[in-house]
Amino acid sequence: MIDHLSKEEILKNISCDILPENVHIFDSIDSTNSYCKKLGREDCASPILVIADRQTNGRGRLGRSFFSPMGTGIYMSVLQSTNSLAIPFSLLTVAAGTAVCAELENICNKEFKIKWVNDIFADGRKVCGILAESIIAPNNAHPSAVVVGIGINISTPDFPEEIENIAGSVNPDNVTRNEIISRVINKFLEICRKYSAQELIDRYKSHSLVLGKKISFVQNGKAYSGVATDINIDGNLIVETTHGETITLKSGEVSLGSKNFV
Ligand code: BTN
Repeated sequence: MIDHLSKEEILKNISCDILPENVHIFDSIDSTNSYCKKLGREDCASPILVIADRQTNGRGRLGRSFFSPMGTGIYMSVLQSTNSLAIPFSLLTVAAGTAVCAELENICNKEFKIKWVNDIFADGRKVCGILAESIIAPNNAHPSAVVVGIGINISTPDFPEEIENIAGSVNPDNVTRNEIISRVINKFLEICRKYSAQELIDRYKSHSLVLGKKISFVQNGKAYSGVATDINIDGNLIVETTHGETITLKSGEVSLGSKNFV
């Protein structure tokens, strides 16, 4: 199937308030998140969508890179003002994960699950990652704008050795990247504008890969294991450790046993 990124095709199916002049498509760019951060519009009245066919320096969380080869994935970022959000900006990663899962499930007719906080898995493999970054004006305590970057492996056939056992592709039938982009963006902005934090967290929890499962993590240099019991209204993960403590994880990464990925 011919699958060129097309602004016209994307706009055809956009139902949210993204203006045509605010959609930017690049053949190649270092990182769509970095581009948005350079734009740094603190007063962007309506969202700006930046998409690339490939990234030469795609970035992930915790200083990692995000493999972004030409023509086989969706690498996109949305820059928006915090004034336009109905949900707290700290829940944007949760909002993007929920939107991606909901839309990919409808498109592919199978389950997509979120490994707290932002990795999306299907059939035991990571198919999508999300990176949210804030733009804070000098002398301000809170961000005035936020960038949410979404990377989805659509039909990437091979991955670098270090992620070949973890990463996978969505491989949808008869759906173009243009259509997936529009659907994910529509859903993401609907959540940002219309959902309450509780509604969002309930939806997010329904896609969770970790709830009720045994997980391990490192906090302040100490290793813990326990069961993930809940995700609170702030998107934090609640863990009952094997030593009977209750720990609230605000950020970082958790590990799951390999049997738990499906
Ligand atoms: C992760 O897996 O830790 C997050 C990956 C986020 C990747 C996306 S691709 C579009 C946007 N631009 C980037 O440089 N990163 C995000």
